[in-house]
Amino acid sequence: MNQASNEACVAPPPDFALLRTLPNMDVPHVRLGDYPTAVEPLSALGDVWLKREDASSGLYGGNKLRTLETLVADALARKAERVWTLGAYGSNQALALILHARQLHVATGTVLFPQRATPTAAENLRAIISHGDRLVALRSIATFPAHWWMRSRAHPTEYLITPGGAVPLGALGHVGAALELAEQVQAEMMPPPAHIVLAVGSTCTTAGLLAGLALARKVEAWPWPLPVVHAVRVTPWPITSRDMVLRLARATAREIAARGGPTVEIDPGWLRLHTRYFGWGYARITRAGLLAAAKFRELSAPPLDTTYAAKSGAALLDLMELPGAKLFWCTKSSAALPPDNPEKLAAAPAFIRRWLTRAP
Ligand SMILES: Cc1ncc(COP(=O)(O)O)c(C=O)c1O
Repeated sequence: MNQASNEACVAPPPDFALLRTLPNMDVPHVRLGDYPTAVEPLSALGDVWLKREDASSGLYGGNKLRTLETLVADALARKAERVWTLGAYGSNQALALILHARQLHVATGTVLFPQRATPTAAENLRAIISHGDRLVALRSIATFPAHWWMRSRAHPTEYLITPGGAVPLGALGHVGAALELAEQVQAEMMPPPAHIVLAVGSTCTTAGLLAGLALARKVEAWPWPLPVVHAVRVTPWPITSRDMVLRLARATAREIAARGGPTVEIDPGWLRLHTRYFGWGYARITRAGLLAAAKFRELSAPPLDTTYAAKSGAALLDLMELPGAKLFWCTKSSAALPPDNPEKLAAAPAFIRRWLTRAP
């Protein structure tokens, strides 16, 4: 046996389920989390299971980590010197990037617009200020489009991740998650889910899962009926709409084909968009969300933040009577945050310090 085939024999399987399934695809990927994330029963609620995306990293997990794995790899391939994220004051994506980029020695920048003050958003913003390299905190969302435009025209060594990373390359991270789930169902770690329930904001995660389930079926990794994906809207129309989710899912399917994978079709019937859990706006706390968060606490299940996961938790509680296994996608990181930096917090602009004190 020559050396090359020897190496091929001992090479470990790739961490990324997409490349494990289709090793010939050309997809940039840098591993930031620990995979596979567990699937666990939440039997107290019936035939309910949890996909523990919240625990994808002890540093900072949650659904945005998979989005970042392909986008940051793309930034590294392009020799970017700084990676920027855009989002709301309490952005999970911005914080995930800041905490993980330090490990990769990549500089970060963040442009954030105001949102309603909540305890988790305030906790995130304190960590972003404490550990980020460069922060542009806006006083008003009105100037956000101009900042987005300016950042998109910045120097080529600066890489820009759009809000939620909602581009086909970002969604490929979640295509990998769907294939990972297929492997877990094949290994009988859980029954094939009839329903998947998750929060939808920028549409990246939901679109990636839809494309990934279609791909899993195409490559015969998913011989069971495909689950209905219940996407629970947490951001307003038109940012989140059925059409936007399906558009990104189809663009992701085209990205799969363009990168050497098979052609897959997205069936709109797989998606159910729930709008009634949204409440009065983005980050507005709802009663149903608080009840769901309390229920999860009582069952020692992963924490539900009021902006995203609690709203999808509320939908899950209402969907429990549906036949078949229900899989709840735990999207909010459950990792403990690193300590704040009091000097950096004290140096933050006065309007930011005031906002931080406003969280109930
Ligand atoms: C905790 C959490 N859940 C769900 C979502 C929604 O994911 P997406 O933007 O991919 O639709 C987000 C987005 O930031 C999030 O931070």
